[in-house]
Amino acid sequence: MSPRGQLILIEGLDRSGKSTQSSILTAKFSKSKLLKFPDRTTKIGSIINEYLTDKSVQLSDQSAHLLFSANRWELNNEIIQLLNEGYFIILDRYIYSGIAYSLAKYEFSKRNANDSTVTSTVDEQIGDVNWLIGPDLGLPKPDLTLFLTLDLAELSNRKGWGEERYELQEFQTIVKKSFLRILPTDTDDSIEIVDVNNKNIEQVTKLIWDIVEKKGVNALTENPIKKVSIN
Ligand code: ADP
Ligand code: TMP
Ligand code: MG
Repeated sequence: MSPRGQLILIEGLDRSGKSTQSSILTAKFSKSKLLKFPDRTTKIGSIINEYLTDKSVQLSDQSAHLLFSANRWELNNEIIQLLNEGYFIILDRYIYSGIAYSLAKYEFSKRNANDSTVTSTVDEQIGDVNWLIGPDLGLPKPDLTLFLTLDLAELSNRKGWGEERYELQEFQTIVKKSFLRILPTDTDDSIEIVDVNNKNIEQVTKLIWDIVEKKGVNALTENPIKKVSIN
């Protein structure tokens, strides 16, 4: 089999610069494709879009979680095929967002359990990382994951902040903690935390490209496509 392209994931908090950086990174490769999750253009993606943009749309936390995962499975075959055809695929969010946001909902509802304005109940599955990763097991695993992190104060100044369901300062603080808890940076050297505090777009682009080169994910590889697994 001929060498394949590589799968590079850009994760991070809302408005941390993921979409900006993933487009720039995609343009650096001559044969590449940018995929954004949630992909709001698919059947399942359109339900997710409604859920995110219309706060009156009610879904249980478990079903929302499964829809985000199902949305990734909608693109599974396309990702594998493109990698095998030598494309570099840049992902704007993926499995770690899936786990971190659901886990954050659990922590958030637990904190607000005594607040009568919050109607959702605390569902134990949403606090269980093993349950949360279940539906994603077997999806293609990124060759490199970059997690963009910055202070919450800087984040809330960025354009467009606050428009969607999860963009609340308190919730984002919990999301950040959840990401840092679930990203296995100690045992998995394909995951890198990128501190983007006080860095402009060009500076972040350089930081990212330096890591991509250092990890050798800018060239075709003979390695088989990895799968998301428990370890
Ligand atoms: P995300 O996809 O993570 O939500 P975006 O890439 O859409 O974030 O960026 C959110 C906003 O912040 C945009 O207006 C973008 O131009 C701006 N932005 C992105 N990176 C930086 C940066 N390093 N410094 C300042 N503003 C930035
Ligand atoms: P976006 O702002 O990058 O379009 O993402 C939309 C929201 O969806 C964002 O608040 C994070 C959330 N999300 C999940 O809750 N689970 C997931 O699996 C993904 C990919 C995103
Ligand atoms: Mg974005």
